[in-house]
Amino acid sequence: MSNTDAAQTGAASIKPHTGKLGIMIPGMGAVATTLIAGVEAVRRGYAKPFGSLTQMGTIRLGKRTEDRTPLVKDFVPLAPLNDLVFTGWDIFGGSLYDAARTAAVLDRDQIEQMRPFLESIQPMPAAFDQEWVKRLTPKVQKKGKNKCDLANQIRNDISEFRAKSGTDRQVMIWCGSTEIYKELKPVHQTLAAFEKGLVDDDPDISPSMLYAWAALKEGIPFANGAPNLCVDIPALLELSKKMGAPICGKDFKTGQTLIKTVLAPGFKARQLGVSGWYSTNILGNRDGEVLDDPDNFKTKEVSKLGVLEYIFQPEKNPELYGDMYHKVRINYYPPRGDNKEGWDNIDIFGWLGYPMQIKVDFLCRDSILAAPLALDLCLFMDLAQRTPALRNLGIQEWLSFYFKDPDSAPGVYPEHDLFIQSMKLKNTLRHIMGEDLITHLGLDYYGE
Ligand SMILES: NC(=O)c1ccc[n+]([C@@H]2O[C@H](COP(=O)([O-])OP(=O)(O)OC[C@H]3O[C@@H](n4cnc5c(N)ncnc54)[C@H](O)[C@@H]3O)[C@@H](O)[C@H]2O)c1
Repeated sequence: MSNTDAAQTGAASIKPHTGKLGIMIPGMGAVATTLIAGVEAVRRGYAKPFGSLTQMGTIRLGKRTEDRTPLVKDFVPLAPLNDLVFTGWDIFGGSLYDAARTAAVLDRDQIEQMRPFLESIQPMPAAFDQEWVKRLTPKVQKKGKNKCDLANQIRNDISEFRAKSGTDRQVMIWCGSTEIYKELKPVHQTLAAFEKGLVDDDPDISPSMLYAWAALKEGIPFANGAPNLCVDIPALLELSKKMGAPICGKDFKTGQTLIKTVLAPGFKARQLGVSGWYSTNILGNRDGEVLDDPDNFKTKEVSKLGVLEYIFQPEKNPELYGDMYHKVRINYYPPRGDNKEGWDNIDIFGWLGYPMQIKVDFLCRDSILAAPLALDLCLFMDLAQRTPALRNLGIQEWLSFYFKDPDSAPGVYPEHDLFIQSMKLKNTLRHIMGEDLITHLGLDYYGE
């Protein structure tokens, strides 16, 4: 570690988490309501935050012989759950109680237990454009003379929330619907072009980008839980660095892709070939309905398909993975609601080319898997902003662990292997706290 690095790391370099932390969520549907109701249930001692690394996870420090393995939340200075205050935006009106009932992820009894709390949170009118989410028709939405006006209305919402809630710091996380597929356009390339595009109502600026721009302009970190580009454009990376407001995304790594990034590194480590990987899903929640539109599905498909390419590196391992057929399907099937079923058929081959098959049938609960990721991201993004070694980096690649299609620096391919991602995350925590990194070399246990 250089002297400059050393000055930027260690517990003393990290600003303490005084006061309350505001969590601002564009899109208060299944994930957001499950997150917020879940945090409240944990605060009241009704349930445990399973699935959350920040709440349940431990981290080893030093040598295996030292027996130093604190909880992550005791090791790094994270905001405690009691300090979180929630708000957000949506197009449906009503309160979070109504939204949680509609999402139907949590049991009715559990929602009723927290009814007054959930009723006290009213989503603000959204900056919405049906062109980007074809299957939804808004009941409430902002009106403005152009995109710049809408984005500035979001900035006003942020200022009002700051004042009313008395929060010292804020984080924004997009839990809104998946927007239609778009590739990078000139308007996304520089901050100047983007800000001109806001005034000119450029058709390639999506609603999620308006929230991201507004948050970053206010110096607020921004995470993207959906697969659309959103903050993953050079213009907003530029703004993030300029404002010292960290960014990360895309697409929470929950059901099928989580399992994929657990299994694929195992096959690769053992040099087992893969000739085909067929993945299909049925789900019946609103996310499934939105993804039933081909333009919205395309965004999700791109996010889900990239994973195996990066893990298997077929160009470097052509005999093992060069001819792999990979297909991903999502079918909207209302009876299942949020309880998605994801099937995988994997055709692998081993010694002398003999074929084998693996079948995975994951009966999961989409938002139960996503909510703890959203919580961890909010707490870690707040930590990143208080940490000199992280706040000016822009993209927080160490949070790839949480994403299907992790944002990474221009020219650097993203890391998809869940175990590398986990090591990267924990080593980042060790690094910022001035602890030794763990390489797992271990030779020194066996020397003289
Ligand atoms: N649930 C999961 O496991 C999971 C996993 C990975 C990614 N995601 C992504 O997370 C996002 C949320 O998922 P969900 O299951 O909560 O979906 P959801 O449909 O229940 O909620 C999304 C909400 O966003 C709102 N919305 C859409 N456009 C908006 C805008 N411009 N401003 C404000 N609100 C807007 C919708 O009205 C809806 O209430 C989706 O993009 C989904 O693809 C979810």
